[in-house]
Amino acid sequence: MQLQDRVALITGAASGIGRAAADLFAREGARVLLADLDTARGEAAAAQITAAGGQARFVATDVSKFADARRAVAVATDTWGRLDILYNNAAPTRLCNEQDRAVHELDEAVWDVMINVALKGVFLMSKAALPVMMAQKRGVILNTATIDALIAEPGIDSYTAAKGGVVALTRSMALNYAKHGIRVNCLSPGYVITECQQDWYQNPQARAAAEATHLTRLGRPEDIAELALFLAGDRGEFITGSNLVIDGGFTAFKSQLPPGELFRPE
Ligand SMILES: NC(=O)c1ccc[n+]([C@@H]2O[C@H](COP(=O)([O-])OP(=O)(O)OC[C@H]3O[C@@H](n4cnc5c(N)ncnc54)[C@H](O)[C@@H]3O)[C@@H](O)[C@H]2O)c1
Repeated sequence: MQLQDRVALITGAASGIGRAAADLFAREGARVLLADLDTARGEAAAAQITAAGGQARFVATDVSKFADARRAVAVATDTWGRLDILYNNAAPTRLCNEQDRAVHELDEAVWDVMINVALKGVFLMSKAALPVMMAQKRGVILNTATIDALIAEPGIDSYTAAKGGVVALTRSMALNYAKHGIRVNCLSPGYVITECQQDWYQNPQARAAAEATHLTRLGRPEDIAELALFLAGDRGEFITGSNLVIDGGFTAFKSQLPPGELFRPE
C-alpha cells in the first residue's frame, strides 16, 4: 500500500492513462478524486473503483476554468480533509488527433483551446491546490507532457507547444515549492494505446511508426500509471524538477525508419 490514506486528485481520469492511474492509486490505498469533463464516464469510473473496495469520488471539472479547479480541490479537502497528490493528466487529445496542424494552417481557436487546457489547465489546477499543500508542508504534483515536447512530430504544433510549456513549468514549480515540501515532476509518455489513439492507429504507417519502440510494443496506460505511482509515493521522495520519459526507448535511439515515414494523416 504505497499511497495508504493519501488523497489524490487526478484530472482527465475518466479514460485512458488517468483512469489507469485512478485504479492503481486506489488499489494502493489512496482516496481518489477523479476530475474530468466527461461526467458519465467519470462517475462510472468512480463507482467501479468503489465497488472494487477502493475510495473514490468524481467531480465534473474543466481544468481550463479556475472556478472548476477551485471546486475540485474543495471537494477533495471537504471530503477527505487534505490533498497530497495532484496529477495533472487532462489534455484535449481528440483535438490533437483531429484538428492540430502545422503553424501556417493551424486555426487560432484550436491553438487557444490546446494551450488553455493542456498548459493553462496545469497552472490553474496547481494554483488551486498549492495553498492546501503549502499549509500541509507536503505534496506531490505530477504533470503530463509527451515525447513531442522533446522531439518534433509533424503537424501537431499546438500540442507540442503546450507540452513544451508543461516541461518548463514543471522545473520552475519544483524550484519554487521545494522549500514547502512539495515535489513537482513531469511524465513524458511515448505512444500509448488509449481509446483516443485508436483511430490514428488504424493507419498502418502510423502504427508502424509508433511500434518502432525498442521494446517492440506500444505503451499501455498501466505502464504510465506505474511511473506515476512511483513518483507520487515515498519511493520517489528524492525526485523533483524532473521530466521522466517513458516511451519504450523510442526517443533514445536514432530512428531506423526512413525520413518521412513517421507522419500524420491529413
Ligand atoms: N496516449 C498517448 O499516446 C499519450 C502520449 C503522450 C502523452 N499523453 C498525454 O497523457 C494524458 C492522457 O492522455 P490519454 O491518452 O489517456 O487521453 P484520453 O483522451 O484517453 O483521456 C483524456 C481525458 O481528459 C479529459 N479532458 C479533456 N479536456 C479536459 C478538460 N478541459 N478538463 C478536464 N478533463 C478534460 C477527457 O474527457 C478524457 O477523459 C494527456 O495529457 C496526453 O496528452 C498521451
